[in-house]
Amino acid sequence: PSVVTKEEVGLTRKQVRIVLRNSGVINPESIEEYIAQGGFEGLSKALSEMTPENVIKEIKASGLRGRGGAGFPAGLKWEFTYKVPSDEKYVVCNADEGEPGTFKDRLILEGDPFRIVEAMAIAGYAIGAKKGYIYIRGEYKLSIDRMQKAINVAKEYGLLGDNILGTNFSFDLEVRKGAGAYICGEETALIESLEGKRGIPRIKPPYPVSQGLRNKPTLVNNVETLANVPDIIKNGAQWFRQFGTESCPGTKVYTILGDVVNAGLIEVEMGTPLRDIIFQYGGGIKDGKKFKCALVGGAAGAFLGNEMLDVKMDFDNLKEYKAVLGSGAILVMSDGVCIVDMLKSILRFFKHESCGRCTPCRVGTKRLVEIIEKFASLEGTEEDLDEMLNISLVMKDTSFCPLGQSVYLPVSSAIKYFRDEFISHFKDKYCVSGRCKPKLSL
Ligand code: NAI
Ligand code: SF4
Repeated sequence: PSVVTKEEVGLTRKQVRIVLRNSGVINPESIEEYIAQGGFEGLSKALSEMTPENVIKEIKASGLRGRGGAGFPAGLKWEFTYKVPSDEKYVVCNADEGEPGTFKDRLILEGDPFRIVEAMAIAGYAIGAKKGYIYIRGEYKLSIDRMQKAINVAKEYGLLGDNILGTNFSFDLEVRKGAGAYICGEETALIESLEGKRGIPRIKPPYPVSQGLRNKPTLVNNVETLANVPDIIKNGAQWFRQFGTESCPGTKVYTILGDVVNAGLIEVEMGTPLRDIIFQYGGGIKDGKKFKCALVGGAAGAFLGNEMLDVKMDFDNLKEYKAVLGSGAILVMSDGVCIVDMLKSILRFFKHESCGRCTPCRVGTKRLVEIIEKFASLEGTEEDLDEMLNISLVMKDTSFCPLGQSVYLPVSSAIKYFRDEFISHFKDKYCVSGRCKPKLSL
């Protein structure tokens, strides 16, 4: 059927699957199986029945928002790129998924690579681009391999290259590999890297929509965002809007990990409560332990405790709780996990990945690691906690890019909800996990 109903979309364990609809169902290397599931009907419809303006109108009407983390309206971004006059434009798929605990894009690429080929071709037609790049994290060997094969096969079938499906639209795709820097997931650093330079962020504005790759208008979309596009075009914006919430239609793919019974990947409607994600889909806390908190949104996310379990997960609801949906990673912690130890890992990660371009982030991450290591050695003071808050707040206000700005959220939420646990580290010399120990003095 050309229109999929809500019931038909849901496949397993009451998940509502749009972007993962084919994952694990079809052979990802077979274009025939993708086509048999309705693949390339979106592209065919766009090219034969719709003008580029109509495609953009449909994406705008669907309310699709960027799934990389920021939730920016996708249709608006497409329209901005379309409206900048230029005979050279690009579509870039951001598959440099580096957020700790996040592997949703990898599984979309591995499970349904033709979906991304189709989505990028539709995007190219809409904005007026002839060339697209998929920038994939270098460690994702299978994703890289499957995308490359999908591109080759699509070319053989006349679904990429010159005069696609006999029209005068021509579009080609190229895979580029990242080299392991987290900062290259930031869109302007990614563009620098695509240009063969060191991946450090550019000043925004100008945004990539007007001056992106080679200073030309460039549409940068996350893998999961693009993965929604073929079905939206095929079934229409109203079909998409039956899922999710008014301001955040559609679904969200989450990676659930940590102390849960069923760690892994789920796709559920936007607005699904955190409690359901952890206790229904995740199967609850393993080994009979109690829920302590969840780090929602990856390392750049917030620690959310018991009192936040009923938050309906979407971009806007979480903002009200001063939290973020981010990359969709949900790290669940049981009562035996030490928050100091967890925050130490996060801060070490940021220190390691800071590109060093701006002082607040370069020095701030180093200083934060020094302080958290004090607590992890069962030392520290209450003033140290205030100092951590101050440093991360200055970083939030003055860092050049989201990497430095986002350190505030994990630091502030950890201290807000678990201040007593920090204090017991230096006052009672007590760590719930036993992982924090006094420094050995030789
Ligand atoms: P942003 O809010 O600056 O921009 C979001 C998107 O909208 C960008 O593509 C930007 O170019 C575009 N945009 C924003 N305002 C615009 C305007 N006025 N005109 C034209 N285009 C405009 O956020 P950013 O820095 O791109 O991403 C931050 C997010 O990334 C965070 O929410 C974080 O959770 C997430 N993140 C995701 C990771 C992952 O692995 N998926 C890793 C690290 C962070
Ligand atoms: Fe580099 Fe950090 Fe500054 Fe971003 S905030 S530009 S990662 S030093």
